[in-house]
Amino acid sequence: MTELPRELISEEEIREKVDELARRISEDYAGRGEVVLVGILKGAFVLLSDLARRLTIPRRIEFMALSSYRGASPGTGAVRLLMDLRGEIAGRHVLVVEDIVDTGRTLRYLRDTLGARRPASLETCALVRKRTSRADDARVRYLGFEIPDRWVVGYGLDYAERYRTLPYIGVIDPDEEDDRGDDGEARGREP
Ligand code: PRP
Repeated sequence: MTELPRELISEEEIREKVDELARRISEDYAGRGEVVLVGILKGAFVLLSDLARRLTIPRRIEFMALSSYRGASPGTGAVRLLMDLRGEIAGRHVLVVEDIVDTGRTLRYLRDTLGARRPASLETCALVRKRTSRADDARVRYLGFEIPDRWVVGYGLDYAERYRTLPYIGVIDPDEEDDRGDDGEARGREP
């Protein structure tokens, strides 16, 4: 019988961490006007939803869709912009919300692209960052957890579009997932 991904970070740990991040962000931005939260699709949709509803400061929701080829080695592939922001960010406080920082390539792209639009400030919040991330590209002001270099899924993160709605963060073995195929039993059991 196929099993669900092994748990790395529990639902409860995630809830407590998102509470803590929301508190810190609310304190840091208090009195500075509206913050533009930029969720990076698809993976960040769960964190953005939970985080945005816990903040106590004025906020606006925006999305960008990027494709970064998660799992590719650093230096290979390019980040592609699939969908841009709808609103202007010049003179505004911008907080990028990401599910995972892996090589740091996506964050570097965002710092360049959004930074060029002259926001009042530009910071990042990410739920997890791989310990192997390259330090300079992977700077994250509001970080949930440092994790080992494994393929993680759940809480927005996928493997071939599977597991995004898993409520915890789990670890999978991509080779086993490929053996199982698209119609594998795990898909049917996903919460
Ligand atoms: C994931 C994640 C980040 C990026 C991080 O997106 O959501 O945006 O990879 O990787 P990096 O630090 O190596 O750049 P992915 O391209 O898997 O798209 P998705 O969110 O639509 O699944």
